[in-house]
Amino acid sequence: MFLDEIAKRRTFGIISHPDAGKTTLTEKLLLFGGAIQEAGAVKSNKIKKGATSDFMEIERQRGISVATSVLAFYYKDKKINILDTPGHKDFAEDTFRTLTAVDSVIVVIDVAKGVEEQTEKLVEVCRMRAIPMIVFINKLDREGKDAFDLMDEVEQKLGLRVTPLTFPIGMGYDFQGIYNIWGKNVQLFVEEDKQHKGTAIQYDDLNDPALAQAIGEKALNTLNDELELVEGVYPSFDQEAYLNSQLQPVFFGSALNNFGVQELLNCFIDIAPAPLNKQAVEREIDPTEKAFSGFVFKIHANMDPNHRDRLAFIKIVSGTFERNKPYLHVRNNKKLKFSSPNAFFAERKEIVEISYPGDIVGLHDTGNFKIGDSLTSGENINFKGIPSFSPEHFRYINNADPMKAKQLNKGIDQLMDEGVAQLFTLSLNNRKIIGTVGALQFDVIQYRLEHEYGAKCSYENLNVFKACWVEPEDENNDEFKDFKRVKQKFLATDKQKQLVFLADSSFSLQMTQQKYPSVKFHFTSEF
Ligand code: G4P
Repeated sequence: MFLDEIAKRRTFGIISHPDAGKTTLTEKLLLFGGAIQEAGAVKSNKIKKGATSDFMEIERQRGISVATSVLAFYYKDKKINILDTPGHKDFAEDTFRTLTAVDSVIVVIDVAKGVEEQTEKLVEVCRMRAIPMIVFINKLDREGKDAFDLMDEVEQKLGLRVTPLTFPIGMGYDFQGIYNIWGKNVQLFVEEDKQHKGTAIQYDDLNDPALAQAIGEKALNTLNDELELVEGVYPSFDQEAYLNSQLQPVFFGSALNNFGVQELLNCFIDIAPAPLNKQAVEREIDPTEKAFSGFVFKIHANMDPNHRDRLAFIKIVSGTFERNKPYLHVRNNKKLKFSSPNAFFAERKEIVEISYPGDIVGLHDTGNFKIGDSLTSGENINFKGIPSFSPEHFRYINNADPMKAKQLNKGIDQLMDEGVAQLFTLSLNNRKIIGTVGALQFDVIQYRLEHEYGAKCSYENLNVFKACWVEPEDENNDEFKDFKRVKQKFLATDKQKQLVFLADSSFSLQMTQQKYPSVKFHFTSEF
């Protein structure tokens, strides 16, 4: 029973550059699962174009994004958990953290735009972590790049090795459907109206005379030639290679038209991994172990200032998580019980008695949790793989209301625990520096400090190129001592009290590296 439940779970994330169709695809998957009744039910949680400095918009979006953080539904006999990843680049760090909780991903690419910047960054993270990936090429109803050129681009820019499992018949104006290499049938797209609403007609055989008639001899010949080329050029699908992140299957379709999506979903539930082993500092944890373990990958603050509790999202790695059972919060060495753990479905969340590996539970928290924390049945397990990356923007944060110093410190502390930004404390004078991925977060922090904590802050510009986590060869050697003395002005500690060098330019970083060869500088906090 326990093992069946694990084998049923498919926990994944959809990643893309904004506007490639992530929200639309998510919605269509939910429709197939019967989790929602009509398109438009899942509100987009992306920050709309042109609203990039509007933090009220962010607050609104934050509300929506609680609801869409995890979307769970049943399809055939599988339990599907989709973890939402923000597409906006200023929230890239949120996405990186969410990727620590997925067992696989689907990468959505716009057929006309091809591989875009944000896709490159996110895929690189997935590749580094060897996460199994499926590529979905979207918007086939529009004119776009040639399918072979696009697969070349995916291989070159994303460093993937691909094999198509569906293949388009025509494109844009001439788009007629797809050949399902995986299911060995043809799906023809029949457009019914100007809104691109359509239905699919299935042919089980390429030699079916009705097919030739439907798409025309010419298109059929082209398709046959292309399929021959596919067979000659691309490796045949190998599940082992996919699971090891050495081969990425490609699907073509149009999410908006609900076309090619079911083929994707049917194949996905067959090939995508059930919950995988997870490496902790102490040892590797197998999901089938009876003892519970899990970790926090996301914290969401309550938007109602009268209720200061937060929702911590836990990915269950092994065992079962049960309501009202005491679990060990490893970092604080404290037992905690949860009377109302939440499970998430497409349009609702509800209190759940028992959850299995692969599931996400939302726990009400009054300030115990930090991102990356582990929760277990009792064992001392610390999960790895939620590093901080060097921020891109840095500012001093000052208290603008001396009467509210306590509130300010508490607010900063909690917002950092949520992972909104990173805090560095200058070694020289204890001044606080906030580092963020995007300039947008400074507005968010200021707004939230005021509205949630009653504190006021102001910022002061600071010229920092990168935060580099410092790893000395030997803490006691003269070179390291000299480094600390000479560079004192540029040294700070992060929230974990790790030493950080705030380089003011790429040139000064280079010079420092040359001068102190035994000291290593890292752009992430885990090395
Ligand atoms: P995102 O979450 O990746 O940012 O993308 P989203 O799904 O919001 O899609 C971005 C735009 O692309 C939307 O149009 C959406 O309707 C459109 N789109 C998605 N899939 C397809 C497709 O298969 N074909 C075509 N032609 N368009 C597609 P929008 O005008 O920006 O928004 P909306 O007003 O339609 O919501």
